[in-house]
Amino acid sequence: MGKKGREIVKAKLDEVIKHLLAAYSDEWLAHYQYWLTARWIRGMDADTLRSVLEKQSEDELMHAGKLANRIIQLGGQPVMNPKQLLDTAGCGYKEPPRDPTDLRTVIQDVLNAEACAIDYYSKMCEKYRSTDIVTHEIFEDLLKDEVDDEEEWEKFLAKP
Ligand SMILES: [Fe+2]
Ligand SMILES: [Fe+2]
Repeated sequence: MGKKGREIVKAKLDEVIKHLLAAYSDEWLAHYQYWLTARWIRGMDADTLRSVLEKQSEDELMHAGKLANRIIQLGGQPVMNPKQLLDTAGCGYKEPPRDPTDLRTVIQDVLNAEACAIDYYSKMCEKYRSTDIVTHEIFEDLLKDEVDDEEEWEKFLAKP
């Protein structure tokens, strides 16, 4: 990052990078969870859920990309070893249900992941609103996406 770009960051760099890393890890884990679940599930409504899982799985990977770019820009390192993703994550990872036809659990697990992300991103938006505007914008973009994701999944839950 350039001189002026660094100067305008009023927050502590270590702390910003730590917060970005947690988000980065969660996005990778959500990507993996949704990607795998899309392939694993079976049953009546599985195809409907599958296409949403695939789409959102790509979105989460795109989120991880935005976070990685910002981490590098601030002089940090994204998680270099995937073994560490679970330790760095804030929301964590939920395995797809053992029963591939248990679509209610799939929906609930995604909703939990999205709720956790919304919670975290809204806190981060507040935190960096005036101390790191660029990071704030990234968290805000991600927050908007996760709010849309949650809404899409709540519709499935409303179905009988
Ligand atoms: Fe995301
Ligand atoms: Fe999401």
